[in-house]
Amino acid sequence: MKRFLPYLKYLRGHRTYLVFALICGAISGLVFGRGLPVVINTVFPRIFTDGPRTLPTSEIVGYALLIPLIFFIRALTGFLNNYFMSRCGIGVLETLRVELYRQLQHLPLSYFGKNRTGDLLSRLTADTQVVQQTITSSASDLVIQPLTLVGAFSFLATIALQHDGVVLFLASLAIVPLCVLPVRYVGKKLLKRADENQRLLGDISDLANQNLMGAREVRAFGLEEKEVDLFQRTTRRLFLVQMKVVKYSQVLSPTIEFIASLGIAFSLYYAYNAGISLTVFTSILTALFACYEPVKKLGALHGQFTRGAASLNRIEEILHEPISIKDPPQPVEVPRRLRGEIAFEGVEFDYIPGEPVLRSVTTRIPAGTVCALVGPSGAGKTTFANLVPRFYEATGGRVTVDGHDVRDLRLADLRRNIALVSQDPVLFNDTIYQNLLLGRPDATREEVMAAAIDAHADDFIRNEPDGYETVVGERGSRLSGGQKQRLALARAFLRNAPILILDEATSALDSQSEQLIQEALRKLVVGKTVLIIAHRFSTIRDASMILVFDRGEIVATGNHGRLYDTSPLYRSLYDRQHGAA
Ligand SMILES: Nc1ncnc2c1ncn2[C@@H]1O[C@H](COP(=O)(O)OP(=O)(O)OP(=O)(O)O)[C@@H](O)[C@H]1O
Ligand SMILES: [Mg+2]
Repeated sequence: MKRFLPYLKYLRGHRTYLVFALICGAISGLVFGRGLPVVINTVFPRIFTDGPRTLPTSEIVGYALLIPLIFFIRALTGFLNNYFMSRCGIGVLETLRVELYRQLQHLPLSYFGKNRTGDLLSRLTADTQVVQQTITSSASDLVIQPLTLVGAFSFLATIALQHDGVVLFLASLAIVPLCVLPVRYVGKKLLKRADENQRLLGDISDLANQNLMGAREVRAFGLEEKEVDLFQRTTRRLFLVQMKVVKYSQVLSPTIEFIASLGIAFSLYYAYNAGISLTVFTSILTALFACYEPVKKLGALHGQFTRGAASLNRIEEILHEPISIKDPPQPVEVPRRLRGEIAFEGVEFDYIPGEPVLRSVTTRIPAGTVCALVGPSGAGKTTFANLVPRFYEATGGRVTVDGHDVRDLRLADLRRNIALVSQDPVLFNDTIYQNLLLGRPDATREEVMAAAIDAHADDFIRNEPDGYETVVGERGSRLSGGQKQRLALARAFLRNAPILILDEATSALDSQSEQLIQEALRKLVVGKTVLIIAHRFSTIRDASMILVFDRGEIVATGNHGRLYDTSPLYRSLYDRQHGAA
């Protein structure tokens, strides 16, 4: 229960509804808990007299109608309470979901390396769903049931005073703590199972996610049955855990009912000895019934809260994750457009602590330089490029742009000045036009088309059935690798940023298109700092500066001619590609 308190602040916008709901709940609870026994106690003796029955019809009808009236008031206020409490609860949940999503937008990329997409998805959907269930079920019971209890107790207390039945009253009170015991016991068991349940759901979501992403590989390697088997084993574990959850949450109500029946047995015995009349006893029974119902419901609610808490824990693991890459408290003010000088000063970096990927990397790339990064696969070229937009944080040394440590700049200021074509560019499931526009949302249609022409994408786009309005499919799956790459290039060209990072940006193109794009690039890169990562030396040869990477270090710097003569690694990489010509 108290796990949910911090989120009450989200109720602020729903205050009016909340107050209204609470009032309705109070009426509903009291009318049932106290009103019903009172009616029975005062009206029944007038109806069930021992003598001749002489009441006028109108009066007896009036008495009879009192009971449906009470149920009607309970039903109406109960409904209103439920409706408006749920409204508040679901409203709070909406805020929570959006907070969670916002947090996911700002978490550093390293977070996604450590966490599984499917599991995150499941937290975003399945776990928020459980919290929602908790909120809606508590909405109907959290106010009404305790107040029903209060109403019924107040009636029992009155009766106890009238009939000297203090013992009876105390005995019925004693039942409550007796009921709390199983509630607590089950709660503890349930928390563990509920947590396991949600984790397994996360695993399943993750399995499914990976499987669907790799649909082609599954078929290519004949993994269909193996995948089903794996899935089935996980769902089997889920089945077992779910049955335990069912067991623990369903055992409560019957237990409490049984304890309650003991209370009734006791009061029957007591009523006989105390000479209590049938009418009074009936009203006591009604009040007792009105007591046990809330205890039972509150017990079930406790179980639901426990399940909700398990899911909330998983949601909070995301919400409370520190955003390590964020704007500095006092950002340096920079012009809107940076010049684009990049420098690395003794930069160290690792993805996994203890496994350095960049080792004291120092270099300076003057503004307006076309700089190529070469080196064997896994040498750290992409990693080097990732540190410039501050996708990851250097663990040692510093990265500067125009002399400012990237950590001193606002992320928006820094990233606005960088255009990136990554090693596997992602397009969103939208039209080609919208995908291009991401490069610069305020670009005109002419500018978008000019960028497409420069990237040699315009031709194929016009051949698509809907031209620029063609929808590209999930991650751009309806396009060929080369087409995707051209769109990614066009998007980067459109951005027109002073720093351009091209990571294998032309690797999927045929050599003729690559050559054409090279020409376009020559025009576009004027005045820009360009980092080109490429395995093809046709792209590299023209660069005015080349950095040779090997196992996380820059082992040589220079232009093609110089490196060919002085760097054995560069020479061997080059010769291998040119068949040692
Ligand atoms: N997200 C990651 N988590 C952990 N290790 C990583 C991650 N990305 C890269 N690495 C490791 O860092 C090293 C450098 O990777 P990087 O991607 O920078 O190489 P690269 O030079 O770009 O190679 P390629 O030419 O194949 O693209 C590799 O050993 C790789 O295993
Ligand atoms: Mg790479």
